Formats: sequence, C-alpha cells, structure tokens
Amino acid sequence: MRHTKVKDLLNSSVTLQEVNAKGWVRTFRNNQFIALNDGSTINNIQCVVDFENTPEETLKRITTGAAVSVTGTLAESKGAGQKYEIQVSKLEILGDSDPEKFPMQPKKHSLEFLRENAHLRVRTNTFGAIMRVRSILSFAVHSYFQQKGFVYVNTPIITGADAEGAGEMFQVTSLPLDNLPKNEEGNIDYKKDFFGKHTNLTVSGQLEGETFAMALGQIYTFGPTFRAENSNTSRHLAEFWMIEPEVAFNDLDANMDLAEDFIQYVIKYAMDKCPEDLKFLESRLLEEEKSKPQAERSEMTLLEKLNFVLENNFKRVSYTEAIDILRDSTPNKKKKFQYSIDEWGADLQSEHERYLVEKHFKCPVILFDYPAKIKAFYMRLNEDGKTVRAMDILFPGIGEIVGGSQREERFDVLVEKMKTLGIHEEELWWYLDTRRFGSAVHSGFGLGFERLVLFVTGMTNIRDVIPFPRTPMNAEF
Ligand code: 4AD
Ligand code: MG
Repeated sequence: MRHTKVKDLLNSSVTLQEVNAKGWVRTFRNNQFIALNDGSTINNIQCVVDFENTPEETLKRITTGAAVSVTGTLAESKGAGQKYEIQVSKLEILGDSDPEKFPMQPKKHSLEFLRENAHLRVRTNTFGAIMRVRSILSFAVHSYFQQKGFVYVNTPIITGADAEGAGEMFQVTSLPLDNLPKNEEGNIDYKKDFFGKHTNLTVSGQLEGETFAMALGQIYTFGPTFRAENSNTSRHLAEFWMIEPEVAFNDLDANMDLAEDFIQYVIKYAMDKCPEDLKFLESRLLEEEKSKPQAERSEMTLLEKLNFVLENNFKRVSYTEAIDILRDSTPNKKKKFQYSIDEWGADLQSEHERYLVEKHFKCPVILFDYPAKIKAFYMRLNEDGKTVRAMDILFPGIGEIVGGSQREERFDVLVEKMKTLGIHEEELWWYLDTRRFGSAVHSGFGLGFERLVLFVTGMTNIRDVIPFPRTPMNAEF
C-alpha cells in the first residue's frame, strides 16, 4: 500500500478508509497516541495505537524522532484539536531513535542550540514552517518574473569581476597554496592558475545580467552569491541567495515600481499558499516578544506587518531628505547612534535605516539619489555631478532589503568613473561593449532572498532562514 502525505490525510473528505502514513514521531503519549509529522504540513496526525495488541517491545521503540509506518483506518477524531486520526492496525518501526540521545526533544530549544543542530532543526515546527515558506517564496519569485515575460539567466558563479568593487571576494584557485608559482616580479603567477587568471566567487550577477538585458530586454537571475565581508551580524551571510532583475529602457522610477510590485506579489503569494505556517510563525513571534521589554515589542503581529506592506505604498525619499531627517532626529542629537550623522555624504548604517523605517516613516522606504562616492561604479551620475541614480529599499526590522540603480549607460562617463576608481578597462571590456554597441537606459536591482524570508517569517536572525548558514568561522554541515 502506498503511503499518503499527512497533509492530504488531514484535508481528506473520505473517512473510514484504510490508509498508510509514514513519518517521524514527534511525541508519544500515554503509550497510545503518536503525533506523527512527515513535513508536508505543520500539523501532525494523531495515530491511535492499539496498545493492548501491540507487543511491549514495539511500544518501547515508538520514541521521539523515530521513523514509523502506520496503517489503519482514517476516522473522525474523538479527541480535541484534530479532525481526523488514524486508528492503527499495523505499526512498523522504520528507524529507531535513541530517546536519550536525540537532540530534538519535545520541549522548547533555544535558536542557538538549534543552529548547532541545523541538520535536525528542520524537524521542529519552527524550522519546518520557515523552510516551507522559503520554498514557496522562491517559487513566487519565478512565478512573478515568468508571468511578466522575464528571461531567467544563470550568471556564472566563478568570475573574474568584482561587480560591487568592495573587495569582499572569496578567491577560487587550484594553485597549491603551500607552493605558489611566482612570476618574474615575484608575485603569484595566476597565469598558471586553473583559469589562467585571478578568479573569485561571484558577489553579484549584475554585470553579466546587464549584457543579457541588452539583448533579451527583461531578465532576472536567482542564484547563490558570496561575500567575504567579516560582518558577524544578524543580517549578513557569507553565502546568500540574490534575485537580480535587469530591464532595458527602464529608468529609476520604473525600477522602483518594479521592485515594489515584485515584493508585494511574493509576500501575497506566501500568504495565500502558507496560511498555516505563517499563523504558526506569528504565534511564535508573539511568544518571543513576550520576553522583550514593552517598548521593544512590535506594534503589529506578523500577519498585520505583511498586510501593511501589501496595502501601503513604499515611501520614496531622497538621500538628501533622509540625511536632513536623521541629522535633526532625537537619537542623533542625543548621540544615541553609534555613528552620528553630521554631514551630507555619510554612508547610512543599519541603525539609521531602521530609524527612518521604524520610527520616522513607519513604513517601507525607498531611498534614492545617493552620493556617488558611497555607491558602486556602474550607477548613473545625476546632473548635479555628485549623486547617482541609486535606490535602496529599507524594511522594518531588516534595514536594507534591496539595492539597485539606473545604470550609467554613457560610455565616456562610465570609463571616466572606472578610471578614478582604478578599475581596469581591459578587465571589463565585455561589460563596456554593452555601452559601445546599442547602449540604452536600463535599470535593475538585487533583492537579498534571505532578508525577504526573514521579513516574511518574522525571524530575527538570518542564520535561521537558510538551511545551513555560512558565516565567519562557521561552515559546519
Ligand atoms: O546592495 P547590493 O550589494 O547590490 C548589488 O549587489 C547589486 N549588484 C544589485 C543590482 O543592482 N543588481 O546587494 C543587494 C542585496 C542587499 O540589498 C541585501 O538584501 C542583500 O543583497 N545582501 C545580503 N544578504 C545577506 N548577506 C549579505 N552579506 C548580503 N549582502 C547583500
Ligand atoms: Mg546595498
């Protein structure tokens, strides 16, 4: 007999039929009631064991974490809290789980403890829910762009370019590190390396994406991205997933419209497809917030926050306006910011971004027209000669969730900018070709997928929304 998913059993409209379910025991109460979960839904199915006719030996092996197969009648449950249960006629232990050693006991574990057991944490309600929501969100990304006729492009993971110019790259090499070949100048001879040049893991697929947008019109990438920035924060990963749409003929306003529409679509999609998981995550968050002082608690529940983003336009504010607001803000005057805002040109830290979003505007904010000197080389210079057509989208509890821009499409201006930053033309000859042959206005952005998952699940540490996080000093699993 084929087994049926717990989700389908619970949604079934026919009872009193013989069914088989396979899954992992969450709890076993009174030597009789198994709460069985198979990952298809947050809900367990109650399996009632006929303990009088089941050997004592077998009953002992029904422990938390064990894999079991149960066959029996799907019947309406007499117990509270569930519609159906399985009245078990045949029980088989597929895989034992030593109750003394299994780390996922049916009790509350700290998120830190669960992180150390990332291979098993997905067997908990919280991580099951997060990972199902993450999966649905990634499908939503494809659904949105595919519906709009965007072409999905797989940009290379190994590249010679540093798109962001931040120098935060993981090098890729097959050279023997204990015996590096040197050239005549005594430097490492990368001509002898696998690719015959210096290469690294990509920090962004944008530059390659742009070349495709300048042929296919509308493209998006969705892939792993690597940054060796040594920031051990709750919002940074060394390996994360980024979605980068790029659209020919879009200016910055159209880019903002696209980003806003896209984010609202994927959030709505998750709310439609994952109501039970999100409801569970909402109650988890409420529980977590109880331990915080009143002033730090969120005014909205998780679903209220998600609805708020769907129902309200993102506030669009220029960098210059934002600096004025921050300079005059109470925390700045009272020196409460770690980095005080004194003058125009300062880079914004996440404390400033969160002040703008959470305290001042109380809604998602799109900041635009940043000073050229704090942004990447490829952004279009404004007429004022000092700001660029950049945009960052800031979210409550997250800070920056999107970074994007209108691109510098003028060959001469771009080359000039690269010169001042010491970016060699020869290295990006192919990128410059897009400006040599049929250049046009175009724009795009990057959405950090884990930051989106953070927002939608109401989790607060980015390590908890990716299966196996990569962070400084941590590459376990
Ligand atoms: O702002 P960033 O650096 O922009 C780019 O990479 C552009 N090439 C995007 C484009 O225009 N096509 O990164 C984009 C987003 C950030 O807003 C953030 O959400 C996320 O990527 N991000 C990270 N997420 C997790 N861990 C990190 N270390 C991240 N760095 C950036
Ligand atoms: Mg950015």
